[in-house]
Amino acid sequence: MNLIPEEFQIISPLIQDTYLVNGELKKWTGPTTPVYSTISSTENYAPTLLGTIPFMGETEALEAVKAADEAFNNGQGLWPTMKVVDRIKCMENFVAQMKTTRSEVVKLLMWEIGKSQGDSEKEFDRTVEYIYDTIESYKELNARSAHFSKVQGIYAMVRRGPLGVVLCLGPYNYPLNETFSLLIPALIMGNPAIFKPAKHGVLLISPLLEAFRSCFPKGVINILYGRGREVATPVMKSGKVDILALIGNSKSAIALQDQHPNKNRLRLVLGLEAKNPAIILPDADLDLAIQECITGSLSFNGQRCTALKILYVHESIQEEFNKRFTAKVDALAFGNPWEKGVSLTPLPEKEKPAYIQELINDATAKGAKVINAKGGQLYDNFIFPAVLFPVNKGMRVYHEEQFGPVVPIMTFKDIQEPLNDMAESNYGQQVSLFGKDIKTIAPLIDTLVNLVSRVNLNSSCQRGPDVFPFTGRKDSAVGTLSIHDALRSFSIRTFVASKDN
Ligand code: G3H
Repeated sequence: MNLIPEEFQIISPLIQDTYLVNGELKKWTGPTTPVYSTISSTENYAPTLLGTIPFMGETEALEAVKAADEAFNNGQGLWPTMKVVDRIKCMENFVAQMKTTRSEVVKLLMWEIGKSQGDSEKEFDRTVEYIYDTIESYKELNARSAHFSKVQGIYAMVRRGPLGVVLCLGPYNYPLNETFSLLIPALIMGNPAIFKPAKHGVLLISPLLEAFRSCFPKGVINILYGRGREVATPVMKSGKVDILALIGNSKSAIALQDQHPNKNRLRLVLGLEAKNPAIILPDADLDLAIQECITGSLSFNGQRCTALKILYVHESIQEEFNKRFTAKVDALAFGNPWEKGVSLTPLPEKEKPAYIQELINDATAKGAKVINAKGGQLYDNFIFPAVLFPVNKGMRVYHEEQFGPVVPIMTFKDIQEPLNDMAESNYGQQVSLFGKDIKTIAPLIDTLVNLVSRVNLNSSCQRGPDVFPFTGRKDSAVGTLSIHDALRSFSIRTFVASKDN
């Protein structure tokens, strides 16, 4: 184990013994859950205790529902009726306070989810930028709608209004950025929110609690801790939730919707699984394609919804592609998040290496091989990325969203093969297409844009920049997120009309 730099050492556990409800940081004296990092602080491997969080239940969940419901007060609350300029002030105060927590949050991001220092810093900075951009976009939206128009003798002023209480649940791979990409537009549009941090990446919210408490009126933001089943279920069952904003798994999204007694009241803003393919055509620039497929499939160990989760390589270039791709995979450095030049890092879910191993075993039992020398090497908290070839539809890795370090490769002869597979798939987020000949690529793009929501030419899939729409077809998303679209997803058009009489 490499020495942990002093600034990143865990000196004492963070005991999170308050929760935010109705504008108050209330003391928690009930049962708690320990938060462990899979990263070791000692020579002999042992998970590191980072702190504890409250283990809450129905009582606290309903307390948060009541607070949020009262803050909305059927649209008459202080927050939904507040002047735009004042809501913006609250948000500006919040982001100013948030910026002072950067080093604490970045340190916790590294320990809690194993994200490299550079990527953790990027996640924090990107989130701050997202908040500023959201404020600007909200100003524009408002300026554009602040006038009357007259059509067929009717004067109207069309604006966007809040919907009501939002339940916000983010993912562990971007516990700050993706959660805030839901929470911030939801709040700025005048909705009160109940937010439960992700399973991993929960303590990093602690440095922000005081900013949330002091910058928003009471009940506007309520933060609960605990398991989804114990906390989110009663919130949904209350029937008071107007928007379910969730980035994560479609099974949990469906289970939560099912708890709501009035489903048509519930608006959904969901970012779900994906199985984004890369298609490498015979004339692709191989250096470029390989580099993009490495970052696409393995940045943050493949734990991104936008990761390339299956590679389709044309059979005429497969041998060369596999040889060069596997060499690059084996050259990736594994280490702790603060180590210089590291690209692969410990997996935050302790059961993940065993799951990836299962996928490898299943594929190899059905005829695939691990074609890179280091593939599948097991560590205490990691499994080295395995490149599997040739993969077929009988294998679990073809169907399951691996969300981790394993790269399945298939070959194709006719482009219709990957296109048919994409059409059959339950997912439809993005694709990466590698090739040079414009005459081949142009008609392919026309087909691909009808199968997924973003076609990346000669580049890996990704969510950003946040000005562009982030969505998906089929089981990959409900609603669209971007700075501009999120404001619309979290609001409804309402207008005042009068006859010219
Ligand atoms: O987990 C899914 C994220 O939206 C991916 O975002 O493409 O910026 O890594 P990213």
